Amino acid sequence: MVAVVAAAGRGVRLGAGTAKALVEVCGMTLLRRCVDGLTSSGVVDLVVVVAPAELLGVARSALPPEVHVVCGGVERSDSVRAGVAEARRVAPEAAHLLIHDAARALTPGELVRSVVAALRAGALAVVPVLPVTDTIKSVDADGVVTSTPDRDSLRTVQTPQGFAADVLHSAYAGQLVATDDAGLVERSGVAVHTVPGHPLAFKITTATDLALAESLLRAGS
Ligand code: CTP
Ligand code: MG
Repeated sequence: MVAVVAAAGRGVRLGAGTAKALVEVCGMTLLRRCVDGLTSSGVVDLVVVVAPAELLGVARSALPPEVHVVCGGVERSDSVRAGVAEARRVAPEAAHLLIHDAARALTPGELVRSVVAALRAGALAVVPVLPVTDTIKSVDADGVVTSTPDRDSLRTVQTPQGFAADVLHSAYAGQLVATDDAGLVERSGVAVHTVPGHPLAFKITTATDLALAESLLRAGS
C-alpha cells in the first residue's frame, strides 16, 4: 500500500513561524510522527511526502531514506496532485492509494488498517468519520443563521482517506480545488464509503491542538 502525506502547508493558524509539519511535539516533528505511524501500521510499504519547496532538504533529513519527498503547491489539492503523480511514477502497479495529512500526527495504526481493510474489501473510496458533537449552523455573509442541519446526518472527516488508484487519478486529472480528496471523488460520482474515525486522528491546526497533542503523548497515548 502506498501513502501520500500532505505536509506542504504553511501552518498559518498554528503560527509557529515555520511549516507546521516540521514543528516538534515532545522532541519529534509532526511529519516524522505521521510517517512512522503509517509505516508501523504494518499495511503501508511506500510513503511519498509532499513538502514545501524551500524545505525539501530539511524534510528529507527528518525522514528515513526510503521515503520519497517531492515539492508541494499553493493549495492542498496542488500538493496532493504532486504526491499522487510521484506515487504513480515510483509504484505504477499500485491498485490503491492512501492520502494523509502530516498534521494528523497522532493517527493510530488501527485507523490506517481499517481504511486499508475497507479498500481491500472492494470500496473505491473510503474516509474515516466521527459523529458531530456540536450543533452546526449555516450562516449568511452577515453571520445570520440561515439553517440548522440535522446533526444525525453530519460527520467530520479525517485522514487517511483511501482510494482505488484509477479513481484518484481521474479525480486529480482536472484542476479542481477541494479541501478534502473525497470531495473531488464525490463530484466524479463514485460512492465514498465511511469507516469509524478515531479521536487521536484529530488535525493539529492551532496552538491549542499542539498543546493537546503534547499532553496526550506525555500521558502515553
Ligand atoms: N497542505 C499541503 N499543501 C498545502 C496546504 C496544506 O500539503 N498547500 C497539508 C498541510 O501540510 C497539512 C494538511 O494539508 O498536513 C492539512 O492542511 P492544514 O491543516 O490546513 O495545514 P496548513 O495549510 O499548513 O495550515 P494553515 O491552513 O493554518 O496554514
Ligand atoms: Mg491550510
